[in-house]
Amino acid sequence: MDRLVVNGGARLEGRLTASGSKNAVLPLMAAALLTDEPVVLHRVPALRDVTTMGLILKQLGVELQAEDGTLVLQAASTESLRDEPREASYDLVSTMRASVCVLGPLVARVGQARVSLPGGCVLGVRPVDMHMKGLNALGARIEVDGGYLVSDVGRRLQGSRLFLGSTFGSSVLATANVLMAATLAEGTTRITSAAMEPEIVQLVTLLQSMGARITGIGGPELLVEGVERLSGTEMTTQGDRIEAGTFLIGAAMTRGDVTIDGVDPSHLAAVTDTLGQAGAEVTCGDDWIRVQADRRLESTDVTTLPYPGFPTDLQAQHMTAMAVARGLSVITERIFPDRFMHVAELLRLGADIRKEGNQAIVSGCERLSGAPVMASDLRASAALVLAGLVAEGQTEVRRVYHIDRGYERIDARMAALGAEIRREKQPHLDPQRPDW
Ligand code: EPZ
Repeated sequence: MDRLVVNGGARLEGRLTASGSKNAVLPLMAAALLTDEPVVLHRVPALRDVTTMGLILKQLGVELQAEDGTLVLQAASTESLRDEPREASYDLVSTMRASVCVLGPLVARVGQARVSLPGGCVLGVRPVDMHMKGLNALGARIEVDGGYLVSDVGRRLQGSRLFLGSTFGSSVLATANVLMAATLAEGTTRITSAAMEPEIVQLVTLLQSMGARITGIGGPELLVEGVERLSGTEMTTQGDRIEAGTFLIGAAMTRGDVTIDGVDPSHLAAVTDTLGQAGAEVTCGDDWIRVQADRRLESTDVTTLPYPGFPTDLQAQHMTAMAVARGLSVITERIFPDRFMHVAELLRLGADIRKEGNQAIVSGCERLSGAPVMASDLRASAALVLAGLVAEGQTEVRRVYHIDRGYERIDARMAALGAEIRREKQPHLDPQRPDW
């Protein structure tokens, strides 16, 4: 397993173009199951999660060709998928929860599906009850059988009215799953309390370009008129707002000056507003954001919320910035109450953080001190790299495969902004041949 070695003290300075959005492209890839015509996606990021989704789609009868960030996906015909039922296997689905969003398109087009339950992860149990509630409201008759989500409804889904809200707000991927299924259902589907994330907006746009009839884009209520079939399409993936936010928070906490091109500033309004409150200077254009800071950040409280609130995927990065800010910050996690694996690792670097339920109270220190730390979820891992930038001495972030799931070449891109960072192959300790 690789590790990243970061030497503290550098300021992040320079200009980068955001990669294509991981959380947008995964549902877009799954949407290829809705038709047997080619779906062409541009600006597809080179990430482990994209590879995993590609392998799952291949298992489900989709042919893929990838070249220079363009991905062409073509699913098999409905008849062949019916005659030769496939399954999304546990060994792949268990490594990436987003795989669950192949379920809706499969059942809608083929009338049957067999998709492994994703299982939990460091963010918590990660249930799929809202996916099942929404799809079963369309008549999918999904049941759990031997760790798999199984449907054999054998007929066209039926439009319905359904509510997708919960105590956490809406589920992003459950909205994607149900929305894709509804495009081919008979009649009208009204989804109330749909997720409004930019990734859902991009999925609606793709589905509309395939011939789906959807109104309410970007809002909490989506109305879908089902159609008999959908055609192929071509689309360019939007910039990754979470990758961009990670670099911009890094700029602010290292008193740097970074501009990210190819990202929609409105997708990060909560984050840039928070950085402004913390004392950074933020300027934006139509498709770029610049963050500069020339002094220590001020403590700034954050509560993570569904879009357009502060994104949970940037909570760990904000916590790291507050670990070296002036004063006390309270960080409240309302989406994944257990999303604090990074606290223990930041404490190893000398941070002063107290966890109370779904809150973390951060007392900013002048500086952190470098040490080996362990990556856990992919966003927490990126936060540990940022921590290494402001820690004295050397910080080693281990289990870097977590980061490679969601960040393209984070070491090379951080180094391009001036970070002193390198990737090292971790010696493989083979228990069969110990080399003591
Ligand atoms: C998407 O996950 C993102 N992943 C996550 O990003 C992101 O953190 C999350 O949305 C919230 O914004 C992708 O888009 C691939 P949810 P998703 O369903 O859709 C609960 C990253 O780092 N819930 O919106 O799986 C759930 O437990 C990843 O890129 C249910 O209770 O998240 C959570 O508390 C991490 N039942 C809340 O809803 C369900 O059936 C929101 O989860 C589904 C979800």
